[in-house]
Order: sequence, then structure tokens, then C-alpha cells
Amino acid sequence: MSIKKAIIPAAGLGTRFLPATKAMPKEMLPIVDRPTIEYIVEEAVDSGIEDIIIVTGKGKRAIEDHFDSAYELEENLLKKGKYDLLEKVQKSANVEIHYIRQKEPKGLGHAIWSARKFIGNEPFAVLLGDDIVQNKIPCLKQLISVYEDTRSSVIGVQQVSEDETNRYGIIDPLSNRDRLYEVNRFVEKPPLGTAPSNLAIIGRYILTPEIFSFLEEHNIGAGGEIQLTDAIEQLNKTQKVFAFEFIGKRYDVGEKLDFIKTTIDLALQRDDLREPLLQYMKQKENRNTPSI
Ligand code: UTP
Repeated sequence: MSIKKAIIPAAGLGTRFLPATKAMPKEMLPIVDRPTIEYIVEEAVDSGIEDIIIVTGKGKRAIEDHFDSAYELEENLLKKGKYDLLEKVQKSANVEIHYIRQKEPKGLGHAIWSARKFIGNEPFAVLLGDDIVQNKIPCLKQLISVYEDTRSSVIGVQQVSEDETNRYGIIDPLSNRDRLYEVNRFVEKPPLGTAPSNLAIIGRYILTPEIFSFLEEHNIGAGGEIQLTDAIEQLNKTQKVFAFEFIGKRYDVGEKLDFIKTTIDLALQRDDLREPLLQYMKQKENRNTPSI
């Protein structure tokens, strides 16, 4: 069976972006002119996912509205002949998006557990909105290929610098062949200086449904939250869980400075924005003073 269902958890409080996220979900923060979550949905669709369940929470209605059809807006654009914009706001026909509410933000593990009935008894993907990955072969598609070879859970990892390891789930690798690691241990947010490696879990997962029996236990982990990494660690004791060092440029949009860098990089990829933006940055470099 191939991977056709994906969970996108989006029920976190987004405290690192307060006050912007007081009334607006962090997944709706725009990068250039598209909400972050649209990049994530696009990667899922490009990887062959047919059904997505977005786990939402309090104050997340804007996400549902965003992926719904907007009849009045579409009529208006049609009348005005703005077909390029019309295409941008129309619903994707290639994917069904469903929603479920996590009643309380008890942690990522709990958010995934909340979607168990939608997943049923099949392997599935998880994509976190905090990471955008660009690559010709989408990151999730790379993990799905590994799943198809191994028929085991596969966790996306990339190297991070040593002083950042306390912000991530980190793997303790056993062996490595062609970017694929067998894993001894998965540790969530190890204190600095104790990380078993600098290979960090980066928000893309393929999981077998057996993960739900461990999430069911609702064990509290790092930061007082129910952690997905802890359930993966338990799963790895009963069936093999691989880590795969995927290929691609990763943008961390859960952090303020990286969010700004991502906006600049993605704007530079746009024909309409590249030149004026470069000129503006050159001006700033020359004058080194704030300009309006
Ligand atoms: P984060 O910890 O990065 O997200 O969780 P957050 O809590 O929204 O943000 P900060 O740290 O307060 O700024 C990773 C992912 O898991 C989801 C988040 O929405 C995010 O996509 N999540 C987290 C849930 O869906 N439910 C939770 O209870 C916690």
C-alpha cells in the first residue's frame, strides 16, 4: 500500500510569533503572498498525497476558509478577467482536505493522535508547517520512496549545528548507507552537550499505524507536552524505524529571523520581485541606514 493520507498538525499556539498569532494562525502567516501552509499542502500533493487532515485548534477558522471555495471572490475575478489570480485562489482538485480539532494544545504527539480515526490502519505521512523544503524531488516524495523499499516508518532528518541540537528531536544513529540510518535512539530536545549526534528531525515523517498505540499512552515529555518523538522511540523498539537524510534546502519558518530570510529567498526566486528587491538591498548595504 502506498502513502495516500497525510496529517498536517496546525493546532499549536504559535507563541514565537506573538502578537501576530494572537488572532491569526501562524500557518496563515504569508511568505511573499502565499500562506505558509499552502507550501506544505503543495509538497504533499506533489508527493502523491490524496487526502490531508489538518489538525486545528481554537482560532484556526482562517485555515478552513483559505482552502474552501470563495464564490464571491471567484465571481468577481472572473468578471474582471483576472484569470491568473482566479487560478491562484481556486481550490486544488487533486486533494481532499479534512479538518479535526485538537481540543487542547497538549503537544505534537497528541495532535497526531487526534487524527487516528481518519488514518485508520494504514501508513501515513506527517508534515509540519514550521519547515519548508525546496527540492526538485519533494522531500516527502523522497521519504515515500524509502518507505516503499523498506515498508518501515521513515523520519526525515538533516544536520544542524551543535548549538541548535537542544531545539530538535535528535537521532542516535547506528549505521548509515546512502543517507539511510538505522537508529539506536530518538531523543526529544536533549540538553546542550548531551546530543547523541547533530542529525535533527525536520518535520517530515512516514509512520506505520502502530504509532497510535504508543501515542494512546499520553506520556508527557519534554516541555510538559505529549511528544511524537517519544512515541517514535517506543515504536523503534518493536519495529524498525529508519531516519533518512533527505536532499533539499530547508527553511525554518517557525523562527523569526529564519522566517524573514525565507521571505527574502523566496521573493528572490520570483521574476517580478527579484530585481527591485536586489536593488533595495544594495541601497541598504551602501547607506547602512534605514530607508523608507
Ligand atoms: P511547535 O512547537 O513548533 O508549534 O509545534 P507551536 O506550539 O505552534 O509554536 P511555538 O513554539 O509556540 O511558537 C510543531 C507543530 O505541531 C503543531 C504546531 O501547530 C506546529 O505545526 N502542534 C503543536 C499542534 O498541532 N498541537 C500541539 O498541541 C502542539
